[in-house]
Amino acid sequence: MIILGIESSCDETSAAIFSDGVMRSNIIATQAIHEQFGGVVPELASRAHQQKIWGTVNQAVQEAGIALEEIDTIAVTNGPGLMGALLVGLSFAKGLALRLNKPIVGVNHMDAHIYANFIDDPKPEFPFLSLTVSGGHTQLVLIKDYFDHELLGQTRDDAAGEAFDKIGKMLGLPYPAGPVIDRLAKDGDPDAFLFPQSLLEGYEFSYSGLKTAVLYRLQAVSEVEREQFIKENLNDLCASVSHAITEPLIKKVKKAVREFKLKTVVLAGGVSANNMLRTKMEALAKKERFDFIAPKMAYCTDNAAMIAVTGALKAERGLVDDLSLKPFASL
Ligand code: KG4
Ligand code: ZN
Repeated sequence: MIILGIESSCDETSAAIFSDGVMRSNIIATQAIHEQFGGVVPELASRAHQQKIWGTVNQAVQEAGIALEEIDTIAVTNGPGLMGALLVGLSFAKGLALRLNKPIVGVNHMDAHIYANFIDDPKPEFPFLSLTVSGGHTQLVLIKDYFDHELLGQTRDDAAGEAFDKIGKMLGLPYPAGPVIDRLAKDGDPDAFLFPQSLLEGYEFSYSGLKTAVLYRLQAVSEVEREQFIKENLNDLCASVSHAITEPLIKKVKKAVREFKLKTVVLAGGVSANNMLRTKMEALAKKERFDFIAPKMAYCTDNAAMIAVTGALKAERGLVDDLSLKPFASL
């Protein structure tokens, strides 16, 4: 079976070809236009998707060395995401499905982040825990079987990636700041600044307090000296912020592993690329004796490979849709 995956939920236009358990191509067209605005501008995202979608799909098909007509199933993100952005990918997928007379499979973007862990070996064994951390979500999900998930808890306010991006903006870093903070944190001291770590009941998270704490710390320095202060302490600030963001994640994973006696934990979503998070997870896995799996870097942030593999897993189970498939911004 040859599957075409299409992703357009936010600011990456992406297409991938997956067949016989191998990812043949995974093309990602990043939209640089948002950088100057310090965040994703929905209307501009829709327009850029519209401009890039055909070229991206065409490139994925060519790189995989197949003809468009050989595609058996089209998997496409139908939520959650920006409505206008989702509509571009979904409408394109429907047009192609109609032209090729092939089934369409709607894929939940958050599920796809989790099933990105099924692209390469070793594949996680059920049941397992997923810490799904992206720009829009921070969730602990118990994965009992294929597409049988229980949400244990999520963030009450900002997502982990959002915290990285918003704090990065305060530090004058470009959007998205997550990868930049990650890099700068490597040469910093995580204990240099004591920022609050939210520890809510159960499996909930909160990052708005941290955001405010960093703002107050910066405002404690006079305006004329602030830029210099940030410059001199940038590595330490980044390391301390990363520590405050990752520590609650690690503590909740530990709690869930113990409560549900789990043997496997996976990371999912853009923040799973974070080095401090990965290092802490590796240490916890050793101590608590569970297998820790994370997607390779190219499959952490938004991509269509994860949509294609999830589409394949759904199609194998008869979970296919038709042309009445609709986009849901808050799926
Ligand atoms: O999954 P994703 O690509 O898009 C959403 O579905 O939201 O995640 C994007 C988020 C952004 O907030 C970005 O700053 C963050 O993931 N991110 C990182 C790293 N790479 C991406 N955060 C921390 N460290 C990284 N290395
Ligand atoms: Zn995502």
